[in-house]
This record gives sequence, structure tokens and C-alpha cells, in this order.
Amino acid sequence: MGVRIISVANRKGGVSKTTTGLFIASGLAINKKKKVLYLDCDSQASAYEYRQFEKNMDLYKDQSEPFKILKKDPAFLFDEIQDYEKDYDVIFIDIPRFTLGKDDKMVISILAMCDSVLIPIKSGELDNLSTLGFVKMIEAIETHKKSKNRPYQYAGFLSMTGKRPTDDKDTREFVKELGIPLLKHELRDVREFSNPYTYDSLLNKGKAEKERFEPFFDEFVKLFKF
Ligand SMILES: Nc1ncnc2c1ncn2[C@@H]1O[C@H](COP(=O)(O)OP(=O)(O)OP(=O)(O)O)[C@@H](O)[C@H]1O
Ligand SMILES: [Mg+2]
Repeated sequence: MGVRIISVANRKGGVSKTTTGLFIASGLAINKKKKVLYLDCDSQASAYEYRQFEKNMDLYKDQSEPFKILKKDPAFLFDEIQDYEKDYDVIFIDIPRFTLGKDDKMVISILAMCDSVLIPIKSGELDNLSTLGFVKMIEAIETHKKSKNRPYQYAGFLSMTGKRPTDDKDTREFVKELGIPLLKHELRDVREFSNPYTYDSLLNKGKAEKERFEPFFDEFVKLFKF
């Protein structure tokens, strides 16, 4: 199989797209020995900036990067991605922000470059509406991909807890009704146990980190066949 292109994406901001993307990218690069590239197309460039921050830490200053993180202008991604495809096993794309419908076409075209989309889902009514809009977008891309006989796979996972006690149950039901695949394992409350490392894998960090991440990561790898 050739290069895989994946985005951890949702319409909603602050739902763990970047954190989860970096965790998985590190796991694939460090533990699965894949050649990984992370293209940061978000104007806030939090993945890229976080790498710069870690690069300057004493802990990592003599360590080589397990995978590259490049900042990219989304407008030119379609033109540039072919420069990278032959050198990598997996390319992650951190999508640009949705801006009130204005740039949605740009995000759609980026998500259509992918073969896999992992959707972090935050519990809560407004968040559900946001996820619904995003899933409609993904389904439209899937229809197009199918018409071209191209692979396209997506699945959701629960990334963040809602505020109301009933949010979780409601959101699980909502996802079931949506009919999208949902990972059995969650990756939640990561703030409590970890930073978003870009030089280390959570599988190598310690017992607690490994216990939290491994079931989710293994399920992801198996489902998406990475
Ligand atoms: N699973 C999680 N549980 C709780 N907090 C999390 C989780 N993942 C990330 N966070 C925290 O939530 C905030 C947003 O995370 P992150 O930047 O990964 O989200 P994002 O979806 O990429 O946001 P943006 O839309 O701004 O790009 C950060 O402060 C992060 O540390
Ligand atoms: Mg982000």
C-alpha cells in the first residue's frame, strides 16, 4: 500500500484534534516505525509551535525528531502534497479552522485528500450539532470517493467529557443514531495524565500513560489498518 493520509478532524474547535493527532503520530513513528509527516495547516499552528517549544527543552535537545512537523499554507497543500507522498508511510493533516462557512470548501478539499478521518467527539448538545454538520460533510466526500472507487474510512471516538451528567449518555445515543463507527475505547481527560509529546510516545512514557493510551491506539491501528 502507498502513503496513507489521515486527519484527526471535526468542525468544532478545541475537541482534541491536535493532541490526539500528535499522540497517534508519535505512536506510529516511534512504536510502529512508520515514516510519519505531520502537516500543520491550522493558522494557529499549535502542533508546529509545540514542536518548537519541545525542541528547545534540555530533555530533547540532543534527540532527533521522530517525525517532522511542517507548517503549511492550506491553499497550496493540494499542489505540495505530492512532493511528500513518496517519502512517507503516513501523512497527518491538521486542518485549517472553519470560518463561518467561508473557507469550508478549503477544508473539504483537504479532507478529500485523506483516506482516513478520525473524529474526536465532545459530549454535549451543541457539540453534537457541530459533529452532525461535520459528519454530513464527510459523508458527501465518501460518496464522491466511492464513485471514484477510492478508499475512504472514518470513525469517531469520545475525546472530551460534557458538563452535564447526562451528556455522555446522550452523545453515545446521538452517535449511534448518526450511524458512524465509534471506537470502543475513549481517549479522554488527557490533560490529567499527559502533555502532547512530539518526541516521545505515550506507550514509552510510563505505566499510567501506557495503560490509558494503548487500548485506544491498538483499536485505532486495527480498525484503520495502519
Ligand atoms: N482528551 C482530552 N481531554 C481533556 N482535555 C484535552 C483533551 N485533549 C486535549 N485537551 C486539552 O484541550 C485543549 C484543546 O486541545 P487541542 O488543541 O488538542 O484541540 P483542537 O481540537 O486541536 O483545538 P483547535 O480547534 O484550537 O485546533 C488543550 O488545552 C488540550 O490540552
Ligand atoms: Mg488544533
